[in-house]
Amino acid sequence: MRTPMTLPATYYADADHFRREMERFFFGAWVHVGREEQIAKPGDYLLVDLLGESVIVTRNEAGKPRAFYNLCRHRGTRLCDKATGHFKGGKITCPYHAWTYGLDGALLGAAHMDETPGFSKDKFPLRAVAADTWDGHLFLNFSEKPVALREQLAGVWEKFRPWRMEELKLGKRVTYELKANWKLIIQNYSECLHCPVIHPTLKKLSHYMTGDNEAPRNDYLGGHMTLNEGVASMTVSGATKRPLFRHLSDDEKRRVYYYWLNPNLLLSLHPDYMMTHTLWPKAHDRTDVVCEFHFHPEAMAREDFTADDAFEFWDQVNREDWHVSELSQLGIASRGYTPGPYSHRESLLHGLDLVVTGELPA
Ligand code: FES
Ligand SMILES: [Fe+2]
Repeated sequence: MRTPMTLPATYYADADHFRREMERFFFGAWVHVGREEQIAKPGDYLLVDLLGESVIVTRNEAGKPRAFYNLCRHRGTRLCDKATGHFKGGKITCPYHAWTYGLDGALLGAAHMDETPGFSKDKFPLRAVAADTWDGHLFLNFSEKPVALREQLAGVWEKFRPWRMEELKLGKRVTYELKANWKLIIQNYSECLHCPVIHPTLKKLSHYMTGDNEAPRNDYLGGHMTLNEGVASMTVSGATKRPLFRHLSDDEKRRVYYYWLNPNLLLSLHPDYMMTHTLWPKAHDRTDVVCEFHFHPEAMAREDFTADDAFEFWDQVNREDWHVSELSQLGIASRGYTPGPYSHRESLLHGLDLVVTGELPA
């Protein structure tokens, strides 16, 4: 049998290869961009920037998420430059000559255009980007004919129902800027062989050999790890004051579930909170990672609520992970690098490589 080997350097260290990967994985599929609560009411908006493509994500009067390229149909001017906000009166107004659009993108007002021959407002709505939600998570799809989000997420659509992710609210957000290729972050996330080596605090809470992975798939990779005896959750002390999510089974209350959802969501479900990492590739060797901690509103309403016990634990582990991911990037970019062998505990990483090369059977 052939030893499974890591990918050639091109996959991590080549700018042209990176652009092609972005077209396929990020501009050609549903990407995770945030949470529904960021656009709670009609007219609330959030700007998303994916590799320089600015998109307005808003909610229409009917309560449906809508997304549009952030540019005016008159002379192309960027419409919004504030990261979040609210469109007063449900109107999106261009800052240049005040063309005005509704929350569904229709052009409502275009001053002095009536005398322009052949002009009709119907011909110039905002250019839409597909937007949809799954269990409280917001996704965009830039392709012209997107498949349904439900189709892309078929394998996980019902999988995490017990956590009631749509009910959870943001307690803490932090952004990390990494000097590493986006796939190295997923690789690091997908194995715990490194845990006893670089995560002294993590190994006290969850033994690295308790990991139980599903077979690799094109739509997701993941599995779970079991909490050590006496440990309630992944926190600084290993204890938690938060009630555990009430719909979990006894097994689910003793585990943390770690899943990569192709292409850019790392979903870590704990018995009492949800951690998400959203990957925002910037270049072949740079990725911003938005790490968020979400909790049940009842836990957040308690006087002694804090997100810090979870955040501080993972912030340290994250930084340990980012450091080795950046070291990987540096080594792989060297002319001395050649592919190396994976161990049997790194099957998800080999699986990811096959997803990337298109060799994993559907
Ligand atoms: S460019 Fe937007 S109104 Fe002129
Ligand atoms: Fe790690």
